[in-house]
Amino acid sequence: MKFSLLPLALLPGALAFPAICPEGLKELKRRGVSEAAIPRLLHKRAEEAKLGKRATFSAAAQKVDVTGPHKFVPPNFAAGDQRGPCPGLNALANHNYLPHSGVADMATIIEATNKVYGMSLDLGGFLAVYGTVFDGNPLSLNPGYSIGGPSTASQNILGGLGLLGQPNGLTGSHNKYESDASPTRGDLYLTGNNFAVQLPQFQQYYSALKAVQGKSSDEQYQGLLQFRIDRFQHSVKNNAYFFYSPFSGVLVSPAGFSFPKAMMANHSAEYPDGTLSLNVFSSFFGVSGQEGKFIYKEGNERIPDNWYRRPIGDDYSIPSFLVDVLDHGAQYPPFLDVAANVNGPNTLAPVDLSDLTGGVFRTGGLLEGNNLECFVLQSIMAAQPDILGSFFLDVKSATRPLTNNIQTQLAGLACPQLNKYDTTLFQKYPGYQRSGGAV
Ligand code: HEM
Ligand SMILES: *[C@@H]1O[C@H](CO)[C@@H](O)[C@H](O)[C@H]1NC(C)=O
Repeated sequence: MKFSLLPLALLPGALAFPAICPEGLKELKRRGVSEAAIPRLLHKRAEEAKLGKRATFSAAAQKVDVTGPHKFVPPNFAAGDQRGPCPGLNALANHNYLPHSGVADMATIIEATNKVYGMSLDLGGFLAVYGTVFDGNPLSLNPGYSIGGPSTASQNILGGLGLLGQPNGLTGSHNKYESDASPTRGDLYLTGNNFAVQLPQFQQYYSALKAVQGKSSDEQYQGLLQFRIDRFQHSVKNNAYFFYSPFSGVLVSPAGFSFPKAMMANHSAEYPDGTLSLNVFSSFFGVSGQEGKFIYKEGNERIPDNWYRRPIGDDYSIPSFLVDVLDHGAQYPPFLDVAANVNGPNTLAPVDLSDLTGGVFRTGGLLEGNNLECFVLQSIMAAQPDILGSFFLDVKSATRPLTNNIQTQLAGLACPQLNKYDTTLFQKYPGYQRSGGAV
């Protein structure tokens, strides 16, 4: 919704007192954004603006190399290559920006997502360290994880040190990283497969994007709202094990809807903020052919030729992502609830956040202040020892990289202190039971 806000960077004092133009205010209200959420969205936009005026388009700097050592090579599954639920990471492995095996160390993942997609080091760093601790091996000399399932390569590259089991990889991280109601991937307990494109879902995404062709990427994001609501309601109506947890649900699930417009869109002088065409979208999801006759090849996510990434210096950061999460959340509040089906399909029952957190947060309150990130980051901290206790010999050392990362983030947020996190409230949900916990 950038179009509806005043160019904050141009206003003297705008960063301290973000303002909104009358049309912008009307537009937000028309969309049903609550008054309480508006200062929050403005503040976040101001933070974005603070990061610098948008850089202008530079073909030379933004063109991504897909030739020579970075030419597309499909995975060889028979040889053990891993690909998983994330098309962004799969494409990096297919172009040798990550090891072709699909098992990569943290530093390489952070660098590759920054260089190829313009994902900020703070966002890439947090996602990579989370993946390493929950789905990989943080105790290895070369900490990292598999972008697909468990891999024997991860034994060699990551080392078996200190582990009581084999790391699960992103595919095996249901309700810890990988979640229900994803855009193109199926719900694990509904389809039995949470990593491959389901073509009917792909078609829905494609149709939503088709209606917003020629618009800039942030406007395209608005065009995806109804598709996201449909995906959410489909899971509620059909998946008895639907579980929307604090991290993998409320925070990660929106990424599948915002990352493509933010980091797969093509950029040009005409579209300095990018626009996502149907061809580019299809290529990044491993789909070819025309509507009605789509052909999907698993793990074949491909960076298109002549593709131009985000402007250098305008990385997609944690604040940019939070604005996108809140934007959809303000328009459809159930996206910001921790909720699950409690007794079969279509029995959605939200967890009372006040009961969960000893009154520190309340259901419906995550739009305000820094509550969203305060709540999610502290939930991860609280869940860590429980979920990982049976996995590492030395759970304190194993969780330290993520704990350090989260503590650094929390230091800047002035969060209300969470003293209670009552996961017994999750026990009544079949989806939580079946996945053996959730984050
Ligand atoms: C360290 C970086 C990253 C990690 C650890 C990561 C991890 C994941 C995980 C676990 C999922 C599954 C979530 C779910 O079930 O809904 C996912 C989905 C997704 N990721 Fe990533 N990701 C990363 C970076 C990226 C980047 C840079 C992009 C885009 C350029 C991207 C695009 C997507 C999309 C579009 C989906 C949704 C797939 C679908 O269901 O259609 N990711 N990612
Ligand atoms: C990206 O945009 C430029 C400028 O319009 C265009 O020449 C190029 O073909 C586009 N790339 C893709 C992959 O569509």
